[in-house]
Amino acid sequence: MNLKNNVEWVGKIDWELKKFHGHEYSTHRGSTYNSYLIKEGKNVLIDTVWQPYAKEFVQNLQKSIPLEKIDYIIANHAEMDHSGALPELMKHIPETPIYCTSNALKSLKGHYHQDWNFVPVKTGDTLDIGNGKKLVFVEMTMLHWPDSMACYLTQDNILFSNDAFGQHYASEFMFNDLVDQTELFTECLKYYANILNPFSALVRKKIDEILALKIPIDIIAPSHGVIWRKNPLTIVQKYIEWAKAYQENQITIIYDTMWNGTRKMAETISAGIKKADKKVNIKLYNSATTDKNDILTEIFKSKLILIGSPTVNRGVLTSVAGLLEEIKGLGFKNKKAAAFGAYGWSGESVHKITTLLSDAGFEIVDNGLKALWQPNEDALQQCLEFGNRIAEI
Ligand code: FEO
Repeated sequence: MNLKNNVEWVGKIDWELKKFHGHEYSTHRGSTYNSYLIKEGKNVLIDTVWQPYAKEFVQNLQKSIPLEKIDYIIANHAEMDHSGALPELMKHIPETPIYCTSNALKSLKGHYHQDWNFVPVKTGDTLDIGNGKKLVFVEMTMLHWPDSMACYLTQDNILFSNDAFGQHYASEFMFNDLVDQTELFTECLKYYANILNPFSALVRKKIDEILALKIPIDIIAPSHGVIWRKNPLTIVQKYIEWAKAYQENQITIIYDTMWNGTRKMAETISAGIKKADKKVNIKLYNSATTDKNDILTEIFKSKLILIGSPTVNRGVLTSVAGLLEEIKGLGFKNKKAAAFGAYGWSGESVHKITTLLSDAGFEIVDNGLKALWQPNEDALQQCLEFGNRIAEI
């Protein structure tokens, strides 16, 4: 597939992928591993694909170019979804230089234990590829690994951004102007919320640094999902918006429940919020039955979250505990929170959730609400009032 002039896409569309990063990230719409081949005076391969597709990748690449004609390989990122086919490829062309950051050199050696012909590069370094064109390297440290890098092809004005601006989204169309826009931006937002949010301060800094170069960008070619060729800066503007402690007028209520007491609390709290504020978008999710990455995306969109669990063994249910660990890691900013939950005898869950939310950087707006055994009429009235209070915060 041709991107522009002598630049081809030679990656893999993985329709089958439903979980990524082991089982950590749900990919309901599959993904792609984007690899690019530039054929100029010199022939350059940018990134490869995940290891299960290594042989297929190398076989297909041979249809585009005899492997020995590849002059340079660029490894923008050492993570296995992009470097996984290197061992298979390097069997054929073991001496070909691999351009990467010094951090990538360490992680590629750490993954594959090979002493390939690495050429470390840093921001501003260039590689002449003939016909008056060059590749300019830009370190993208911690976006999202220490080794991450982007590179820019002059004259064709293509930014190969690696993970940044990507989405886990399989499509045979492969270009942003050809796909369903709701699906595309849903996947972009989920990707940002679940992968890049902890690094938001760096995202903003790096975007400012790239925009300050005032280089023309005709195409942004990320390493996952579709390629941005129509108004490519749209996704850059979205990242700027998302990096600024993003929130919508949304309250998300997340709970787990054993005998429906905490569920009844959640629903009644929701009714209380709705009564007091007709405009706020209230969403309820049972954390035991809802995809966790989808919940985390909803938290990213929220101004306030409520988390509920009954007390079990002096703690909280495991789906809530796991989610709170994820919430802490993702470093959400400028969000409010409170806890609730039913209990039978000891009732520690509300305090425990409140402490964990506070540790995760949320502003705690209420001491939380407990209901003894199944909530009775009085307890449900308290839930309604709790919802009213939350709506007015
Ligand atoms: Fe797509 Fe960080 O690898």
